[in-house]
Amino acid sequence: MSPPASRKHHPRSRPLPRRVPVLLVLALAAAAATVASAQLSSEDYYDASCPAALLTIRSAVATAVLLDRRMGASLLRLHFHDCFVQGCDASVLLDDTAGFTGEKGAGPNAGSLRGFNVIDNIKMLLELMCPQTVSCADILAVAARDSVEQLGGPSWTVPLGRRDATTASASLANSDLPGPTANLNGLLNAFANKGLSTTDMVALSGAHTVGRAQCKNCRARIYNDTDLDAAFAASLRGSCPARAGGAGDGALEPLDGSSPDDFDNGYFGNLLSRRGLLHSDQALFGGGATDGLVRAYASDAGRWGSDFAAAMVKMASTSPLTGTDGEIRVNCRRVNN
Ligand code: HEM
Repeated sequence: MSPPASRKHHPRSRPLPRRVPVLLVLALAAAAATVASAQLSSEDYYDASCPAALLTIRSAVATAVLLDRRMGASLLRLHFHDCFVQGCDASVLLDDTAGFTGEKGAGPNAGSLRGFNVIDNIKMLLELMCPQTVSCADILAVAARDSVEQLGGPSWTVPLGRRDATTASASLANSDLPGPTANLNGLLNAFANKGLSTTDMVALSGAHTVGRAQCKNCRARIYNDTDLDAAFAASLRGSCPARAGGAGDGALEPLDGSSPDDFDNGYFGNLLSRRGLLHSDQALFGGGATDGLVRAYASDAGRWGSDFAAAMVKMASTSPLTGTDGEIRVNCRRVNN
């Protein structure tokens, strides 16, 4: 087990050579402090301040997934959409106000993101137990991990200590989140912009082994793309009408038709048989640089599971607010007064 957050490792101090100018020393110390303050702590961060925090999140997620298995997928996606916009700072949870437009109404999120009520319920319980202690951003990160576990996927240790933003950005949500029509280069760029590698991108895309997408997001693929299985296309056309703008826009299709609610490597097998639901899914296996990784993940669930877990830890460390930055929101939907 990793050491408690309070027991930080301090390197032994050595006397400095005389000639090092004082200003340089101060500058280096300031730089080191900046780096340290942007670092997350270990998973026992709340052990002293809110001992039941992780258990509370885990049981709330388990209940939510039991009631609605898709909720596991939705909570995982919520964390992704948080981290890609301003970093993992719970900006995605802020409601619009008269003077403020948040991320919920942005293109990739409107009428699509789910799970806000589950996060509200968890936050309410935690506020009763330990007021203003556990951040909404940490709740999102832990709920994502617990969701994957509930759906039968891998588990991992979640570094904690994120704080919550006091701002959100609809325009960054529109620019930084990749869209369903992206090609391989677009996807690689979007992830590289967040410090995530090709392997991280392909491994994380495996999240589409669970959950649903609306017809409007896969229509162009099932009616226009040529790189898809004919029987697969025919069955999708049965539930997703060609005409845009009607009620059919919201028809739900499983992202992984082979095992829609199980967190397994079926997603990668689908790509091999040209059954990726989104254009952006199939882009990972279309003769480009990621074909080999898709094949490897399709044949080795264990390798994908450990790469996915490692990539989740990386994604969950995207520009967190720590130390005295940001705040611990009382209500995840609003900044404190
Ligand atoms: C690679 C680029 C990605 C693109 C272009 C993309 C796009 C999408 C789209 C368009 C949907 C369907 C939304 C709707 O129709 O309402 C979706 C659903 C989903 N995405 Fe992604 N996504 C990407 C990566 C990720 C990552 C990295 C994760 C998590 C680690 C993720 C998790 C999910 C989940 C779980 C769902 C289903 C949600 C539900 O059923 O409520 N996606 N994604």
